[in-house]
Amino acid sequence: MSANLATVSYIGATILFILSLGGLSHPETSRRGNFYGMVGMAVAVIATVFGPRVGAEGYAWIVLALVVGGAVGLYAAKVVKMTEMPELVAMMHSFVGLAAALVGYASYIDPSMHFEGAEKVIHEVEIYVGILIGAVTFSGSLIAFGKLNGKIGGKPLLLPARHWLNLALLIIVIYFGREFINAPSVEAGMRPLIVMTVIALLFGIHMVMAIGGADMPVVVSMLNSYSGWAASATGFMLSNDLLIVTGALVGSSGAILSYIMCKAMNRQFISVIAGGFGTTAAKPAAGDAAQPEGEVTPVSAAETAELLREAKSVVIVPGYGMAVAQAQHTVNDIVQRLRAKGTNVRFAIHPVAGRMPGHMNVLLAEAKVPYDIVLEMDEINEDFPDTDVVMVIGANDIVNPAAEDDPNSPIAGMPVLQVWKAQTSIVMKRSMASGYAGVDNPLFYKENNRMLFGDAKKMLDEVLVGLEAA
Ligand code: TAP
Repeated sequence: MSANLATVSYIGATILFILSLGGLSHPETSRRGNFYGMVGMAVAVIATVFGPRVGAEGYAWIVLALVVGGAVGLYAAKVVKMTEMPELVAMMHSFVGLAAALVGYASYIDPSMHFEGAEKVIHEVEIYVGILIGAVTFSGSLIAFGKLNGKIGGKPLLLPARHWLNLALLIIVIYFGREFINAPSVEAGMRPLIVMTVIALLFGIHMVMAIGGADMPVVVSMLNSYSGWAASATGFMLSNDLLIVTGALVGSSGAILSYIMCKAMNRQFISVIAGGFGTTAAKPAAGDAAQPEGEVTPVSAAETAELLREAKSVVIVPGYGMAVAQAQHTVNDIVQRLRAKGTNVRFAIHPVAGRMPGHMNVLLAEAKVPYDIVLEMDEINEDFPDTDVVMVIGANDIVNPAAEDDPNSPIAGMPVLQVWKAQTSIVMKRSMASGYAGVDNPLFYKENNRMLFGDAKKMLDEVLVGLEAA
C-alpha cells in the first residue's frame, strides 16, 4: 500500500471514530456508533499492517499477535457477564498502558530511531512522558480491576502525608527526566528510565488505592482518559498520526466523562484524583456516620402487585441488583401491563447507577423499554412528591437519604434520587446488606418504605403473576 493510500485510509478511520463517538452519545444511535468504530478500527489496522512502515518480514509476527490477542479478546468478551463489564474495561485500560510503556522502551533501544540535536530531545521527552503515563495507567487500572471485582477492599488506603508523598514522587520523576535526557548513551539512559517507571507504577497503585469505593466511577473514567493519552503518546513515539488523533479522542472524551461523573457525584475532580474521598477515616472521629433507626416493614410480591395496581403514577429506580438478577425483561413486562391500564410509569436513572456509565440505559434498551419514559435524575427528582409508588429494583447507594441528611456519611453531598418523598417506596433486594459504597441506608427504615426481599428477577416474576391475576 502506498504512503498516500495509507494516509487517506487514516483520515477515513479518524472520521469514522468521530462518527462513532457521536453515535455512542445516545442509546438510539449507539449501535450505529459501535459499527462505525469497528469499521474505523479495521481500516486503521489494515492500513497500518499493509502500510509503508511494515516490511514483509514483520507479517508473521503481526499475524501471530493478531491471532493471540484476537482470541483472548474474543474469549473475554464472550464469557464476561454484563455486570463484570467495568472490570473488563479496567483490564483493557491496563493493556493500553502496558503497550505504551513497552513501545516507549522499544523505541528507545531501537537503533533506527536515533536522532540528533533538538529532534533527539523531543523524541526522548516523548518516550519519557509516554512511559510515565503508560506505567501509571497500567498499575492504576490493575488496582481498579481488583477493587471493582472485590479482590481488593473498597476502603481507601490513606498513607500519612500522602499529598507530600505524591509531590516528592513528582519532583523525583522530573529530576530523573533531566538525567535521562542528558544521558550520553542508551545504556546510561536506561537507569533513570527504569527508576521513573518504578515510581510511576507505585504512583498508579497509590493513586487508585487512596480512592474510596463510592468514587470508583470517576476513577474508571479517569483511567479511560489516561489510556487515551497513553495511546496518543505512543503515536508521538512512533510518528503515527492516527494513533495520536485516536488517543486524543479517547483521552478528551474520557476527561469529559470524568467531569460529568464528578458533577453527578458532587465531587471536585482534583480531590478525587488526590484521593481520600469516599472515606470515613478522613472525617473527625467524633462525627461518625449516623446509624439508621427504626423498623423495616417487609412486603410480599402479592401486596406489591396490589400497590402497583392501585397507583396512578409509578416511578421505577433500577440499580446494580437489576443487572445482577437480569430482571430487565420482567421489568418491561410489568411496565407494559401497567401502561396498558393507563398508569403513568417512568424510570429514574441515576448517573452512577450500576457499575458503569449508562449501565441501566443499556439494560433497559435491551429489554425494549421505550426511551421516552426513561428519565435522568435531574428530569424526575422533583416529581417524587407527586408519585404514588416508587419501585427501587436492586439499587441502594443512589437512593440513600444519608447523602443529603448526614454530613458525616461517606457519600455526603452526592445527589441522590429522593424516592422517600413518594407516597410509598418499595425497595427490592435480597437482604439488608449495604451497596457498593458500604454504607447503611436509612431509607429502609422509613415509615412509608416497604422492603420486598428476594432476588429481583424472581420477585418481579411473582409481582407480574400478581398483576396478571387481577
Ligand atoms: P449499589 O449501591 O451497589 O446497591 C446494589 C444493591 O443491589 C445491593 O445493595 C444488593 O443488596 C442488591 N442486589 C444485588 N444483587 C441482587 C439481586 N440478584 N436481586 C436483588 N437485589 C440485588 O448499587 P446502585 O444503587 O446502583 O449504586 C451504584 C454504586 O456503584 C454507587 O455507589 C456507585 O458509586 C458505584 N459505582 C458506579 C459505577 C458507575 S459508573 N455506574 C462504577 C463503579 C462503582 P442485596 O445484597 O441485599 O441483595
